[in-house]
Amino acid sequence: MEQYIVKGGVPLVGEVEISGAKNAALAIVAAAIMTDDKVVIDNLPDVRDINVLLQAIEGIGAKVVHRTENCVEIDSSSIHSVTVDYEYIKKIRASYYLLGALLGKFNKAEVALPGGCNIGSRPIDQHIKGFKALGATVDIEHGMIMTSADELIGNHIYMDVVSVGATINVMLAAALAQGSTILENAAKEPHVVDVANMLNSMGANIKGAGTDVIRIKGVEKLHGTEYSVIPDQIEAGTFMFAAAATKGNVLVKNVIPKHLEAITAKLLEIGCCIEEYDDAVRVIGPDQLKSTHVKTLPYPGFPTDMQPQIAVTLGLSSGISIVTESIFENRFKYVDELARMGANVKVEGNTAIITGVDKYLGARISAPDLRAGAALVIAGLAAEGFTVIDDIVYIQRGYEKFEDKLTALGAHIERISTEHEAQKFRLKVG
Ligand code: EPZ
Repeated sequence: MEQYIVKGGVPLVGEVEISGAKNAALAIVAAAIMTDDKVVIDNLPDVRDINVLLQAIEGIGAKVVHRTENCVEIDSSSIHSVTVDYEYIKKIRASYYLLGALLGKFNKAEVALPGGCNIGSRPIDQHIKGFKALGATVDIEHGMIMTSADELIGNHIYMDVVSVGATINVMLAAALAQGSTILENAAKEPHVVDVANMLNSMGANIKGAGTDVIRIKGVEKLHGTEYSVIPDQIEAGTFMFAAAATKGNVLVKNVIPKHLEAITAKLLEIGCCIEEYDDAVRVIGPDQLKSTHVKTLPYPGFPTDMQPQIAVTLGLSSGISIVTESIFENRFKYVDELARMGANVKVEGNTAIITGVDKYLGARISAPDLRAGAALVIAGLAAEGFTVIDDIVYIQRGYEKFEDKLTALGAHIERISTEHEAQKFRLKVG
């Protein structure tokens, strides 16, 4: 299995280009199958989750042409099945966006029921509630979600939970329903807005995305489009905190600063200098990080996908910090790994009490999930000595060219798969 080996203690300095947003791109790929016309998607991050979803739509008959590693042309006129089998959803939960897309286009969809995940149970009751409200039947048998409708009829739907996935999935189906749908208590994440904008560029009629009330007027059909995915706010935040934790000076380019406001606010609180430009943000880490408190919340609050990254950084601050995870019930699994590097963190329920330490010491650790894996790389970059991180396949799901981008910032990091390669790296960096 591939690993990262990192020699820490080097401040990250330089510039990094942020890729397209994985969590917008997944839904945008699903939306692309809702028309028989050609759809071109640009600024697509070349990450495992996107490539698996592209394979999933090819599996039901869509044609995918890679113009470049970040631009695909999708032709869904040849889709011959509405059944997406387990192998895809096992790899990525977001295959469930094909439920909303196929139900919207064909009034029928069958997708394997997503399992749990490393960060929590992650039910899909709100997705099902939305589909039923649009007039679809939903049955779960033999691990498959089967949904169908004679026709989808718009409705007034109140989401019991603010859910990114459910908001997007119901928006997909409602785009081609008869009549109007009002979605209340909707998620407001930038990627929800991006999917709505892409659907509107295909002829959909969606208003209010980015607020908690989204109004969708169903249309007869959707046409082709050429669409570019927004920059990834979480990838950007990850590099911003890497700069903070390594006392670095990094210009994070190709971002939308507005999407980063909660992240920037916390970086200022812990003592970083921030310079904001139209499509870039510079982060300068202080010699001594300050402690703070943070609670993860739906957008525009501090993102849960940034929780491991801020916690790892706060582990090196002076004083005591409190990190409260209000979205997922099991998102502190990385704390045990971090403790092996000398961190002092006590988890009580959905709260981590972090007592800052002077430094982390490199160790052999493993990535428990995507964002925690990226956060543990940050710990390795800040640590004294060598860190070897196992299970980096999690990280490759959502970070494009992660080690290349870090190396360009001066980091000593390599992807290895043998002890011999590890030895070579140790000799090379000394
Ligand atoms: C999306 O997951 C993201 N994934 C997650 O990012 C992100 O952490 C999450 O939104 C929150 O921002 C993708 O976009 C592919 P939710 P999603 O539905 O849609 C509960 C990453 O690292 N809930 O907003 O699954 C749920 O249990 C990943 O890129 C229900 O109760 O998240 C959670 O407590 C990790 N019933 C809360 O809502 C439902 O039907 C928010 O989940 C759906 C969700």
